Amino acid sequence: MARLPAVKSLSRPIRRPKHLKAEGSYNDMLVKLIAAAKEASGNTYNPYSKYGVGAAVLTFDGRIFTGCNIESCAYTPTKHAEDVAPSSAIAQGAMRDAIAQGLSPKQFMVALAVFDPQDPLNPWPCLQCRQFLLEYGLDLHIVGPGPEEGTIQLKTLKSLCPHAFVPEMVLPHAHKD
Ligand code: THU
Ligand code: ZN
Repeated sequence: MARLPAVKSLSRPIRRPKHLKAEGSYNDMLVKLIAAAKEASGNTYNPYSKYGVGAAVLTFDGRIFTGCNIESCAYTPTKHAEDVAPSSAIAQGAMRDAIAQGLSPKQFMVALAVFDPQDPLNPWPCLQCRQFLLEYGLDLHIVGPGPEEGTIQLKTLKSLCPHAFVPEMVLPHAHKD
């Protein structure tokens, strides 16, 4: 395997997921993904909290889909950026395409970048979003900016979800890889 360019990860070295079919450097894709999440944070509709968040999904075929938080005057219907980005990817056919290529629902999304302009070094989704995301596999890479320009932080969703409640607990043969 070719050596990856020097990019600092605060948790562990970045290994390219096997089901990522796109050509090119995975590290470069992640840097681009974080930039897309940052840009998407500017699309927020947040009149109540004034708190903006952006997110971007990297799909198995190298495409990027973005999302931002979208608030509601009734508060509860508020959508989080980490929910909107994968939902947008699915709505635009990324899940359908993955399944058509013989991948499992747990492989359609390779990485999720989160950008929180208030606290860019804390890109880890809230607990409700972690539960939403694990529907699509605990191997998901969650990424955000590192402390220096061009560096990234990465954690697996698994590391953020101890004792997770997973689809197989409800449907024993759900999402078999
Ligand atoms: N928010 C997100 O979009 N993602 C998170 O994981 C945490 C919170 C949004 C919801 C709300 O619009 C605002 O940030 C403040 O909670
Ligand atoms: Zn959330």
